[in-house]
Amino acid sequence: MTDFASTYGSWAVIAGGSDGVGAAFAHSLAARGVNLVLVARRIAVLNECAEAVAAKHSVQVRTVALDLALDTAIADLEEATADLEIGVLIYNAGADTRNAEFLDRTLDDHRALVHRNCLGVLEAAYRFGGPMVTRGRGAVVLITSGAAWAGGRTLSSYGATKAFDLILGEGLWAEWRDRGVDVLSLVLGATDTPSLHRTMDPGDRVLADPHDVAEQALDHLAEGPTWIHGSDNPVGGSPFGSLDRRSAVLAMSTPRH
Ligand SMILES: NC(=O)c1ccc[n+]([C@@H]2O[C@H](COP(=O)([O-])OP(=O)(O)OC[C@H]3O[C@@H](n4cnc5c(N)ncnc54)[C@H](OP(=O)(O)O)[C@@H]3O)[C@@H](O)[C@H]2O)c1
Repeated sequence: MTDFASTYGSWAVIAGGSDGVGAAFAHSLAARGVNLVLVARRIAVLNECAEAVAAKHSVQVRTVALDLALDTAIADLEEATADLEIGVLIYNAGADTRNAEFLDRTLDDHRALVHRNCLGVLEAAYRFGGPMVTRGRGAVVLITSGAAWAGGRTLSSYGATKAFDLILGEGLWAEWRDRGVDVLSLVLGATDTPSLHRTMDPGDRVLADPHDVAEQALDHLAEGPTWIHGSDNPVGGSPFGSLDRRSAVLAMSTPRH
C-alpha cells in the first residue's frame, strides 16, 4: 500500500470524475495507489475515463452513473459504495454550463445548479465525511472558483454556489483538522477543461492545466483550509485584498474576453 493510501484510505470517490479536472484527479489518485469510484452522467465518457485509468494504473475503478442535481443522488451514491471504505472525497462537478444573466436562465436551471453545487456537496460531505471522522482519517476536497470571491454579472447564482462551497470547506477544515481528516477548499481560475470550452471561447487567456491542478491539490492536501491554484500565495486571502465590495463586484463584472 502506498503512503498516500495508508494515510487516507485506499478508495476515493470523485463526484464529476469523467473529464477535465475530475479525470485528472482520477489519474493522480490512481498513480498514488488509490482505487476509484467515478461519478458522472454520460456513461460513454465515464466508461472511457475508467478504462483509461485502469489501463494505466493497477487500481480498481468502479463507475456510478448518476445526476448529482437530483434529490436522491448522494444517497444512491452512498448505497453504491456501501461495501467500500471511502477515504477520499473529491467533489468536482460544478461548472456553470451557461454564461448568461440571471433572468436569461430558467428557474429550473438555477435550481439544478444549487442542487448539484450546494445540497449535493453538503450531503456528500456529511455522508462520506462522517465515517472518515469516525475512523480518524480521510480527505475531502471541495472544488470552488474565483467566482466565489465576489458577486459578478452573469455569475450571480454560480458564484453564490461556489461561495457556499468555499465557506463549507473552510468550516469543515476547522472542525475536522484535529480529527485526522484533511479538508481543502480548492479555488480554481480558468482551467482547460471540456466544460470551459463548451461554455466560452477563452481567447488568449492562459488556462490552468487540469493535471497540475490535481497534482498540486493532492500534494498540499494537509495545507487547508484553502488552496488557490495559480496564485503566488496559494494559501493567501482573496485576490481583491482590501478592495471595497463595490469595486470588487465591478471588477468581477468586467468582460475578460
Ligand atoms: N474549468 C474552469 O475554468 C473552472 C474555473 C473555476 C472553477 N472550476 C471548477 O472546477 C470544477 C470542474 O470544472 P470542469 O470545468 O472540469 O467542469 P464540470 O462540468 O464541473 O466537471 C465535469 C465533470 O463533472 C461531471 N458532471 C457535471 N455535472 C454533473 C452532474 N449534474 N451530475 C454528475 N456529474 C456531473 C461531468 O460528467 P457529465 O457531464 O457526463 O455528467 C464531468 O465528469 C467545477 O467545480 C468548477 O466550478 C472550473
